[in-house]
Amino acid sequence: MNSMKEITLHDKTFVTCIPAEYLESIVVAIALKMKRELASKEPLFISILNGSFMFASDLMKQIDFPCYISFVKFNSYLGTQSNGNVSQCIGLTENVENRTIVILEDIVDTGATLTHFIEELKALKPKEIKIACMFFKPESCKQNIKIDYLGMEIPNDFVVGYGLDYNGLGRNFRDLYKLKN
Ligand code: IMP
Ligand code: MG
Repeated sequence: MNSMKEITLHDKTFVTCIPAEYLESIVVAIALKMKRELASKEPLFISILNGSFMFASDLMKQIDFPCYISFVKFNSYLGTQSNGNVSQCIGLTENVENRTIVILEDIVDTGATLTHFIEELKALKPKEIKIACMFFKPESCKQNIKIDYLGMEIPNDFVVGYGLDYNGLGRNFRDLYKLKN
């Protein structure tokens, strides 16, 4: 039986909306698709911190072909609403020229972060850029982004867990939670 769990982070209470077991099965499916499409390419995975650390880690454990992984960071999100401003990417030391790049993102909300990063990467002349993201909010996304490896679409709720936070708390929880009404 799957009982509903609640957690309180700062001033807000969240309830489970997607159990860890289901998230695991999604990651396995993404890894299988990647194997079919990327196995011979020695791709460079670029994980966008902090949110995607758990997705990146779970995914890497399912990838059984040679690949590279590196991490970058942006800072644009405070509280429960994306502010639309995206700061500069920090930490991209890898040479991306003529390589297959796979961006790993926890969630695409407005799409601002990803669009910004894709533009920055394109200037560095990779062979191709693929996008993998665990969660996508279609009602919120204002950008035209083609997601090559999508975990699942979710409604326009604020969620935490599985790497996602509310003002710093909640990233460590293995299930996905949404705000309790
Ligand atoms: P963007 O609006 O697509 O640029 O989203 C930027 C970042 O905001 C994502 O990479 C997440 O780290 C964070 N974010 C978006 N939606 C949520 C949410 O529902 N909960 C927690 N963090 C979120
Ligand atoms: Mg993120």
